[in-house]
Amino acid sequence: MVRKKKQVIAFSQCIGNDAWRKTMLEEMKRELSFNPDIDFLYRDAHGDNNVQINQIRELVKQDIDLLIVSPNEAEPLTPIVDSVFQRNIPVIVTDRKTSSGQYNAYVGADNLAIGKLAGQYSRTILQGKGSVGLVTGLSGTSASIEREKGFMQQIGDATAVRVSGVIHGGWEKNKAYLEMRKHINVMSQSDIIFTFNDQMAMGVKKALDEAQIKKDIKIIGVDALPGPGNGLEQIIQGKMFASILYPTGGAEAIRTALAIINHQNYRRENILATSVIDKTNAELLALQSDKIKQQQLDIDKRQEFITEQNKIYQSQKSVLNVLVVS
Ligand code: FRU
Repeated sequence: MVRKKKQVIAFSQCIGNDAWRKTMLEEMKRELSFNPDIDFLYRDAHGDNNVQINQIRELVKQDIDLLIVSPNEAEPLTPIVDSVFQRNIPVIVTDRKTSSGQYNAYVGADNLAIGKLAGQYSRTILQGKGSVGLVTGLSGTSASIEREKGFMQQIGDATAVRVSGVIHGGWEKNKAYLEMRKHINVMSQSDIIFTFNDQMAMGVKKALDEAQIKKDIKIIGVDALPGPGNGLEQIIQGKMFASILYPTGGAEAIRTALAIINHQNYRRENILATSVIDKTNAELLALQSDKIKQQQLDIDKRQEFITEQNKIYQSQKSVLNVLVVS
């Protein structure tokens, strides 16, 4: 009997060490645990475009059936991702995008809409008048480009809300902190500081506290991730004013991947819902997240149990085979 090769899903992650991306991977693994016939290859490019390009090349050599990729920066990653697509290996782009639109499916929230939502919310908080400082992510990442564009579209020329300053935090807490320190005079004039993720919001808060800025500057971030030290907790503790929910989409990416490799129907654009989280709804979201976390832990335990039972069954079956043959 010719045994069918296991199907292989590969995931090329731009940077794997932050809480948001760890959550994404956990979600993927949980979803994959329901499909034990799939092999999963994971590569972390540690935020380096060239490393990610080489890792994708290496993955393709391993006869993969589908590639999920969260590209570090759009332009440098576009040619390699396009070449995978052109070899008829299905490609799912997640969270960040390449520049060409050559993919089978996108899974993630709409970053332009996130920028707009932050802009609208800022206008409401400021009652139409005031200033906002921006802390952007890594400049070549589609998420940063789109969040900035969406925000600027909402603020527009016609409003009395103006941008007091823009600094580049590269998505990292420490980078945002150092940049804030450098530009503290300009940035502390702001009524609101919109940081493009919650990590950077924490860096901004640290710099404001250290400089003993008395003005009540409202910090708005993106992600609203549950769990200790993450955005949701910062809102509940009053360290951040609000955040725009940015789901990781790990489970959805795997579900879409399975639909593609099993030749089922799937959508090209899989836009995940988002909303503003502030002190009015943060507690509720945290409660819901805790409950889901508990249920997920139960699922993990059950999956482990099933895997164990399968192993026992397989080994008993082979013992039985030996007995029958001899
Ligand atoms: C995590 C992260 C998130 C952000 C996203 C943008 O690595 O920086 O905080 O929302 O990437 O791609």
